[in-house]
Amino acid sequence: MLSPRPSENRKTGQGAPESGKGDAMSEIVKKLEEKRAEARLGGGQRRIDVQHSKGKLTARERIDVLFDAGSFEEWDMFVEHRSVDFGMERQKVPGDGVITGYGTVNGRPVFVFSQDFTVFGGSLSESHANKILKVMEKAVQVGAPVIGLNDSGGARIQEGVASLAGYADVFYQNVRASGVVPQISMVMGPCAGGAVYSPAITDFIFMVKDTSYMFVTGPDVVKTVTHETVTQEELGGAMTHASKSGVADGVFENDVEALLQLRRLLDFLPLNNKDKPPVIPTIDPPGREDFSLDTLVPDNANKPYDMKELISKVVDEGDFFEIGEHFAKNMIVGFGRMEGQPVGIIANQPMVLAGCLDIESSRKAARFVRFCDCFNIPLLTFVDVPGFMPGTDQEYGGIIKHGAKLLFAYAEATVPKVTVITRKAYGGAYDVMSSKHIGGDVNFAWPTAEIAVMGAKGAVEIIFRQDIGDSKKIAARTKEYEENFANPFRAANLGFIDDVIMPHGTRRRVCNALAMLRTKDIKNPWKKHGNIPL
Ligand code: HXC
Repeated sequence: MLSPRPSENRKTGQGAPESGKGDAMSEIVKKLEEKRAEARLGGGQRRIDVQHSKGKLTARERIDVLFDAGSFEEWDMFVEHRSVDFGMERQKVPGDGVITGYGTVNGRPVFVFSQDFTVFGGSLSESHANKILKVMEKAVQVGAPVIGLNDSGGARIQEGVASLAGYADVFYQNVRASGVVPQISMVMGPCAGGAVYSPAITDFIFMVKDTSYMFVTGPDVVKTVTHETVTQEELGGAMTHASKSGVADGVFENDVEALLQLRRLLDFLPLNNKDKPPVIPTIDPPGREDFSLDTLVPDNANKPYDMKELISKVVDEGDFFEIGEHFAKNMIVGFGRMEGQPVGIIANQPMVLAGCLDIESSRKAARFVRFCDCFNIPLLTFVDVPGFMPGTDQEYGGIIKHGAKLLFAYAEATVPKVTVITRKAYGGAYDVMSSKHIGGDVNFAWPTAEIAVMGAKGAVEIIFRQDIGDSKKIAARTKEYEENFANPFRAANLGFIDDVIMPHGTRRRVCNALAMLRTKDIKNPWKKHGNIPL
């Protein structure tokens, strides 16, 4: 059992009782401490031991890792369920399977609900749901993030529809809080059935390897309905969702790493949609130049290079928090800082599928852009994109609508937007990747940029089709096209690029642009909400 926190000692041990009342008071204090001890023990030592044997922390231990020491204030420790079916009236555990309250993370307020698997498998009863709703409502009122530490067997089976109602109430609050305060789900155990839809609505879902899983229907139902044999891990484990479905935005090795990384992520985020993201002083000078960037782009336009190298060399102290690292790897998104100010970075990755835009990468980037715009985080985009991915898979899968999501997200974003084209910016993908035309505030290109409708080879094969049999002619035409179009100057002539910059000065130029844009103030036309092609 964890020792009482300082705040609890304060409450229960204040001053000496008046004479004559001493006995009664110490009796009350003793009773209070007994009740607290009972609540802290959750489902009991045996179940705590089982939790530990699975490599999991308990709900309370997780809170201890997440929050600054001694800052957690617990609410509703004595709430119990009200169910009387199946003998439930004799099985009550104070707190009813979820620990709720608020505390600070690096000094900033954060609300939390942490499901306690040792109490009825962390299952959600009506009372359990009401506890979650209470912290969510207060978080929205005061403007502070909500963290859900999910570890639950789903709806409390003994409560039936009351539990389903509780879930729906939580979903409704999730939707109301969306875009008002950051909501983050850390799935640290089971999360199945309709229960998955609360995390699904939140801004980010993270999972812990080997101990967490999420699915709408489990392996047994899958077997019955589709005759597929699949393990729990294959169907809904952390890596499945991080790499295949894209449901999870990140995976962590264990509970402690997950919670420490969550603390790191919170440092990039504002508390709410009216707040500015926190500026963290840095020793990294904004004018720092990096000459190795001058040779990052290979001479051969078809050779890849690692866009992550550029990101880490440009952001403050090389600190980059990647989101969705294992999914749609042709698109990199995540948080960094420039001169201490958080930025959302979106970048094509030439190392994977040549950095093209496809369904998954468009969806991934669009959601990230919208998150940043909700929460006043400027966007920094690095472009090296040969176009949209061709093929029946893509067309049948609806690349038209999915690609439009990214276009829509960039166009409606009112936060500062700075774009750097490092190499290819071809076709519609040029327009989509935060171009000037859809509201890019400052658009730079490196001298190696090629801003054109398409690559030279494809272009020549179309416009000089009659010469295709004549390799000499084709070579000459290709050279001519490259000289005319495979550069940043056509776009710069037209003012679509604000300047052609040397790679080594990228950090300085981007920092200057972001500093200038700090007071940017534009509004979209009034509307109830836009109609993004979902
Ligand atoms: C009540 C539950 C429970 C539940 C688990 N428990 N799930 N109690 N309601 N949903 C209890 C168990 O009885 C057990 O109690 C303890 O929690 C631990 O469970 P175990 O089965 O021993 O643990 P484990 O082997 O780790 O398996 C975990 C599990 C399994 C995979 C989650 O418990 C399970 O399948 N539970 C049922 C899941 C389910 O069908 N939920 C409803 C889904 S529908 P004791 O006393 O023995 O410790 C749903 C709808 C939401 O959630 C709809 C929203 C719209």
